[in-house]
Amino acid sequence: MIATGFVENGARVYISSRSADVCNKVAEELTEHGPGVCISLPADLQNMSDIEKLAEAISKREPGGLDVLINNAGASWGASIDEYPESAFNKLMNLNVINVFFLTQKLMPLLQKKGTFDCPSRIINIGSIAGIVTHNNMFAYTASKASLHHMSKTMAIALGPRHITVNSVAPGVFPSSMTKELLKRDGENIVQGNLMNRIGRPNDIAGACIYLASRAGSYVNGDVLVVDGGSSIAPKL
Ligand SMILES: NC(=O)c1ccc[n+]([C@@H]2O[C@H](COP(=O)([O-])OP(=O)(O)OC[C@H]3O[C@@H](n4cnc5c(N)ncnc54)[C@H](OP(=O)(O)O)[C@@H]3O)[C@@H](O)[C@H]2O)c1
Repeated sequence: MIATGFVENGARVYISSRSADVCNKVAEELTEHGPGVCISLPADLQNMSDIEKLAEAISKREPGGLDVLINNAGASWGASIDEYPESAFNKLMNLNVINVFFLTQKLMPLLQKKGTFDCPSRIINIGSIAGIVTHNNMFAYTASKASLHHMSKTMAIALGPRHITVNSVAPGVFPSSMTKELLKRDGENIVQGNLMNRIGRPNDIAGACIYLASRAGSYVNGDVLVVDGGSSIAPKL
């Protein structure tokens, strides 16, 4: 959703995920939304050597620097408190928090090349309203997203002086593989319980990220932009 919005608005966008086939196919499809282009660079972001290779691949293609980094890859896991597995905690903290830090660290030199006093480079970390309000049985997910929001603020302190802003976006419910089962099971209640009577649309999340990446967002730093139709401040039901 986010990559589509950036390609539609003329950006050169690199996307990354584990499956090379899916990543390549999506990049081809998104390029059709041009004027921008989308390029696939598959990587497993659970894995530090893949993170290093991804950063190297981007720096070869963009030696002049990087304007925007969106840390979007993430996973969720729900289980009762009696059965919640250690493996879920390890996976989610590693992917949703720790490796967001390390991919950012590896890409910092490229972001610094583009960031200026008047137009800083942007880092946008995709958090969740699950990092703000409670979500039943989502122990590692809620902990990881709250950590991500807080870590982003700490990164903003370090990177502001280097002309890079760091913000989080906290989406409510959007249609994706992650929410497919939830929406099948509980979609009607989620819609009814939302102040705007709907779930998020692709343009809602793309627009929020484009705002943060745009001139208008250049003085926003260390914030958490909530995009949830108001559900986290006041559930309607
Ligand atoms: N959808 C929502 O309602 C919602 C709400 C709040 C926050 N979010 C957040 O939004 C982000 C995107 O989620 P989504 O809803 O679009 O879910 P999704 O459809 O499951 O997408 C997750 C993405 O992360 C990639 N990914 C997972 N593990 C990876 C790994 N080890 N290395 C590289 N890429 C990996 C997946 O690709 P592969 O599996 O092919 O690697 C996929 O592209 C996540 O951070 C999620 O927590 C979503």
